[in-house]
Amino acid sequence: MIKQFYITPFFLVFIVFMSSIVNAQKDRIVEEKIDSILSLLTLEEKVAMCHAQSKFSTPGVPRLGIPEVWMSDGPHGVRAEINWDNWGYAEWSNDSITAFPALTCLASTFNPDLAKSYGISVGEEARYRKKDVLLGPGVNIYRTPLNGRNFEYMGEDPYLASKLVVPYVKGVQENGVAACVKHFALNNQELWRDHINVEVSDRALYEIYLPAFKASVIEGGAWAMMGAYNKFRGQYCCHNELLLNKILKTDWGFDGVVISDWGGAHNTYEAAMFGLDMEMGTGTDGLGTTTLNHYEHYYLASPFLKLLKKGEVDEAIVNDKARRILRLMLRTNMNSNRPLGKMNNVEHHHVARKVATEGIVLLKNKENFFPIEDREGLTIAVIGENAKRSMTAGGGSSELKPQFEISPLEGIKKRYKNAQIVHAMGFASGPSVYDQILPSPYDADSLKVEAIEIAKKADVVLFIGGLSKSHLQDCEGADRKQFELPFGQDDLLNDIMAVNKNIGVVLITGNAVEMPWLDKINGLIQGWYLGSIAGDALADVISGDVNPSGKLPFSFPIKLKDNAAHYFGELSYPGDSINQFYKEDILVGYRWHDTKKIKPLFAFGEGMSYTSFELSDFKLNKKTYTKGEQITISGTVSNTGIVDGAEVVQVYVGKSKSKVKRALKELKGFKKIVVKRGLSEPVQITINVNDLAFYDEAIKDWNLEKGNYTAYIGNASNNISKKIKFEIK
Ligand code: GLC
Repeated sequence: MIKQFYITPFFLVFIVFMSSIVNAQKDRIVEEKIDSILSLLTLEEKVAMCHAQSKFSTPGVPRLGIPEVWMSDGPHGVRAEINWDNWGYAEWSNDSITAFPALTCLASTFNPDLAKSYGISVGEEARYRKKDVLLGPGVNIYRTPLNGRNFEYMGEDPYLASKLVVPYVKGVQENGVAACVKHFALNNQELWRDHINVEVSDRALYEIYLPAFKASVIEGGAWAMMGAYNKFRGQYCCHNELLLNKILKTDWGFDGVVISDWGGAHNTYEAAMFGLDMEMGTGTDGLGTTTLNHYEHYYLASPFLKLLKKGEVDEAIVNDKARRILRLMLRTNMNSNRPLGKMNNVEHHHVARKVATEGIVLLKNKENFFPIEDREGLTIAVIGENAKRSMTAGGGSSELKPQFEISPLEGIKKRYKNAQIVHAMGFASGPSVYDQILPSPYDADSLKVEAIEIAKKADVVLFIGGLSKSHLQDCEGADRKQFELPFGQDDLLNDIMAVNKNIGVVLITGNAVEMPWLDKINGLIQGWYLGSIAGDALADVISGDVNPSGKLPFSFPIKLKDNAAHYFGELSYPGDSINQFYKEDILVGYRWHDTKKIKPLFAFGEGMSYTSFELSDFKLNKKTYTKGEQITISGTVSNTGIVDGAEVVQVYVGKSKSKVKRALKELKGFKKIVVKRGLSEPVQITINVNDLAFYDEAIKDWNLEKGNYTAYIGNASNNISKKIKFEIK
């Protein structure tokens, strides 16, 4: 009889010990390979690796069979092939892909497992498209609702972003494709992004703006990091001694490659000495404007070679860059074990749909407006340009060429077989020319008349509006100039409500918007840029096939001036075009709303369900804790409604009577839990006491303050059902 070998703790320890030995062995082999290759390279070959040879590639060493490194945007899917030497599309016919929902939507799922599936799927597509580096994810903190690129990021809370960026990075890199986390750091607006100098306290830097980047490196093991365009404390982020040499490479032990944002390098000596490893996208440095070998004019090209040859920069500097780049290659295009990748398969479509349906947020549901029943004789008027508008296009470098894209209208028509669906544009987004949005070519009045006509005759009105993901409207390179909805949507909504009160709104945006009509509508759904399967996902939720469980990853202020960055005026946002001061400091987002008692329109962590949940019996495992201990919060979630659903239990922690300024409470734990109707499920969330430390500028280190704390447990930052005091000794 085979002796049953029990999985004893010893055996588990042995397994862990052996795998760490094996990994250390693997790393040693890689380092030895790097050493041997490095010794074969000429100075010119090492310098050549440190800068672009085309829009999205850097040279290898043909003589030795070392491959080129190929990169592609972006965070939501693999961008269509770009020309060798300009921003135009190469019009290939094999680069149509799966467009996944924007990362704001992923953040709204509060689901790290989904973030892993997302990373695996987009990594498989990047691998199949033969890309070695995927230029994403972006984890810049949502500081102002006007930032053009918020849709690409993971919201206003560093803890939420940290918990989702790690599995995403791991998922991508399982495919032998490097994730390139961006934009490091403090790129929280698009206006003047290429030069604005951000001034922020160490405390806010370390507690708000760095954590997601730090987690992506230390827990996620990111192989690449993209420097941001802006400056920090007077130095460009793409060659910033404090951010790159000290914090990223020394404190965090980052062993990957720092890639500049495209055109983010501005100085040879600084690029050499302050942490830049791969210079991309430099148009010209003034030394040469022709396309002919202007790559030789890059800062880390011939000017760098000259400094090395003159001995003004030590060869060890270029060796470190080459070593990091070779390490990236041995992890990617020189790693013979990496998977082959996949593209446009049903698994990816399933992941895209699941992220979308789990990220959609139900914000208002008066008289059970949602879900809308599909019944004979029911007429649903679907009004709005965003019902049909492609949202995978536009937005800047994250734009995609999907194999297909199901619009909200298509999805609704496909799902509603009995009800009658009628559509009218209602409004049209105008083309944006440099700094302003021109009126649309359509006649606004006739669009409005047509919309009101179908609204009059319909039983239900579903308004699908929002932003257009074009210049000045949720798009890279510019911020919005207004907080309210554009293209006359507010007036149109008022006119529609005058003829039909039974109206629900679906906002397709990546940002908060003003909602003067909120009290007069019955239902409100925050629908993000949902990717290829947008229409099916929206129809899933609108019809009730899927019970929404999304939670807002950022606050919706009632008025723009209620937002922290805007409260402090021009110098705080957008700055004076040279400098900008983050005067709200650590009080970003709900930290501001809670602490200053400024009620938001919708709060961070807020989102409704078609069922109802009850949180009960929550308690902590102890009353007092010491450094390094785990706080275990346990309790029960009951589904007291009529349909299965998922709830997100959130744990915030606040410190009373602190020696430093504090936010009222900060997110320190969350768990999404599925509970079938009528049942209850236990839930447990653990927090490491050390994670409650604040960054103490006096000692330039983290400081775990002793004293009394409060754990706030609830299902939204503005819906706390239990407060439990505890002490740290
Ligand atoms: C852009 C973006 C960056 C993108 C890069 C390449 O300017 O800032 O996110 O990855 O250039 O397109």
